[in-house]
Parts: sequence; structure tokens; C-alpha cells
Amino acid sequence: MNRTSIIQPGRFLVTGAAGFIGSHLTDRLLARGGSVVGIDNLALGRRENLARALAQPGFRLHVTDVNDVAACTRLIAEEAAREPFTMAWHLAANSDIRAGVADSDVDLRNTFLTTHHLLQVLRRQGIRRLAFASTSAVYGMHPARLTEETGPLFPISNYGAMKLASEAAISAAVESFLERAWIFRFPNVVGSRATHGAIHDFALKLKRDPGELEVLGDGTQAKPYLHVAELIDAMVFIVDQAGEPLNCFNIGTVASTTTVRYLAEAVVQRMAPQARIRYTGGNKGWVGDVPRFNYAVDKLQRLGWTPRLTSDEAVDRAVAEVVAEVGG
Ligand SMILES: NC(=O)c1ccc[n+]([C@@H]2O[C@H](COP(=O)([O-])OP(=O)(O)OC[C@H]3O[C@@H](n4cnc5c(N)ncnc54)[C@H](O)[C@@H]3O)[C@@H](O)[C@H]2O)c1
Repeated sequence: MNRTSIIQPGRFLVTGAAGFIGSHLTDRLLARGGSVVGIDNLALGRRENLARALAQPGFRLHVTDVNDVAACTRLIAEEAAREPFTMAWHLAANSDIRAGVADSDVDLRNTFLTTHHLLQVLRRQGIRRLAFASTSAVYGMHPARLTEETGPLFPISNYGAMKLASEAAISAAVESFLERAWIFRFPNVVGSRATHGAIHDFALKLKRDPGELEVLGDGTQAKPYLHVAELIDAMVFIVDQAGEPLNCFNIGTVASTTTVRYLAEAVVQRMAPQARIRYTGGNKGWVGDVPRFNYAVDKLQRLGWTPRLTSDEAVDRAVAEVVAEVGG
């Protein structure tokens, strides 16, 4: 397939820009010669994640809540008057799964309403292309490898439910005003600047107590882990290559998963080799955890993209990066 790149150079709106994945995406879009307007309320993200981007003239960060429709409409209109936007990348969401379990308003507000409100603003501002960070959590529990056709979709977490609702709202927007949308279903994503996730949690726990690491569950949970650098490669590739009005892709490793035990041992080995690992027991880490799943990425491979790292290799690389950041 040979399409004209809409990524290069381009002018982009990125919500959740100060987060783990949003900051890597921002760096990549800038490196490709684009300019980026970031929106983030800094509730979970960090300004330090954007240190490199903030030093570049092509980047501006607005510390604003995506649910503040009036403020977002105003700032996007002002930015578009300087130079029109090529497309928006919507990554703002609640990534604190436990907060969403304790209070379902959290995912309603930050995972679904951010999508609903952003769509309203995009429509008003005539921005007609949207890429969206969805998740494997939309699938719920399925024994077989997950393909984009797997169904019925019954998520088991509020987070997954609100992501699925967001996908549905985007699908409806394609019918009404979006010219093109890309839905990416991410697996577990790992790497530097992580704001959450098992590797990050384990490293923080070991920093507090180098003698013992408590691990939720029995360690047998097994899922695919993708390194953030590969995730960004795939997102950019898909936007360049997938030209249907609505494009939905799993992004993940090829049939490889990593156990939580492997993750825990890798962090312990690097940070505190003498530490004892204590498993809390049970096959689930938390309410809403899908303890085992595997991804089929055949559709993405047919489009022409294949990850280079296995899930274990992605974890090894991420453990080194996260431990270096958290401080060994
Ligand atoms: N990290 C993963 O493993 C993973 C897996 C599947 C899907 N995703 C999705 O990818 C996206 C990025 O995730 P991440 O891991 O970088 O998480 P993150 O928490 O680091 O980034 C999300 C960012 O959104 C911001 N945000 C949240 N609510 C907001 C609001 N109402 N207004 C403005 N900003 C707001 C946060 O401050 C944060 O900087 C999210 O949509 C997430 O659901 C991530």
C-alpha cells in the first residue's frame, strides 16, 4: 500500500500529552517534523515527561481539563487560527484502574466523557481525523487469542466499559462528521516515563522496602507486554497506512506473553536481589483484572507492521529503564 503520509510533517492535537504514552508520542511527532499542541490536566501525567518537547518551538502545552469544553474550544480555536490541525490523538483517560474500581465516576468522567467532549470540540472546530487509545480491556474474558472480530464484548472493568463506550461514540462520529478514525487496542505498554503499571509499582515498592516485594495475585497472570517505542511505531504506521473511514487494530506482540512472576523477578534482580517476593494469592491481581489473555495481531501484520521484541524482551528493556528512573 502506498499512501501519502498525513503524519509528516503535520500539526497535531494530543490529549494526555504529559502522560507516559502521550509524551513519547509527542516526542515522535516532533522528531518527524510536526508541531504539537498538548492538553493535559496533569492529574496523572508529569511536566517532566515533556522536558524534551518543551524545549522545542514546535510544541505548546495547555494545562487544561479535556472536560472543560469552553476552555478547550477556545484554546483549540486560537491554535487552529495560527495553523490548522491535521488530526487529533486522544490519549487522556483514567489510567489508575484501582481508582476506577473504587469510584465508577472516575472512569465515566476521565475515560468516557473526555471522548464525548473532545468529539464535540473537534466537530465545532472542523477537525475531522481522530486517533484513539483504546485497550484490550474492552474484550473482557475470552479464552482464545483476541482478534478485532472477537465478541461479544463484555468488559469486566469500568475502565474497559468506558473505553468501549468511547469506541462506540467515535464510530457514530464517523457517520456524522469524522472523515477518518483510528482505534488502537493496546495491550500492557511498558517503558520509560511509566506513571503506573506493575513494573513501576514493583520498583516503587522495592525502593520503599528493599527487603520484601508484595505482588498481588499468585504470579501466574500472563499477558502480552509491548514496549512503548514499538507501540508508537505501530500507531504512526497505522495512521499512515490504514485508510478506511473507521480503522480498528490490536497492537501487540506476536503470540507471546509474560507472567507477573517474570516481571517481579526481573525487577527484584535489578533493584534488590536479596528481596523476598510475597504473593498475596488468587489468580487475579485486582477487581477487573483479566488474568490471562493473548493477542492476535494478524490484521496489523497484513497491513505491514510486525513488532521486533517478544513480550519478555520488552519487559527486560522496560525494567532497566524504569529502575534507572525510580533509582536502584
Ligand atoms: N499504559 C498502558 O498499558 C495502556 C494500555 C491500554 C490503553 N492505554 C491507554 O493509553 C492512554 C495513555 O495511557 P498512559 O499509560 O500514558 O496513562 P497516563 O496516565 O500516563 O496518561 C494519561 C494522561 O491523561 C491525563 N488526563 C487524564 N484525564 C484527563 C482530563 N480529564 N483532562 C486532561 N488530561 C487528562 C493524565 O494527567 C495523564 O497525563 C490512555 O487512554 C490509556 O487508557 C494505556
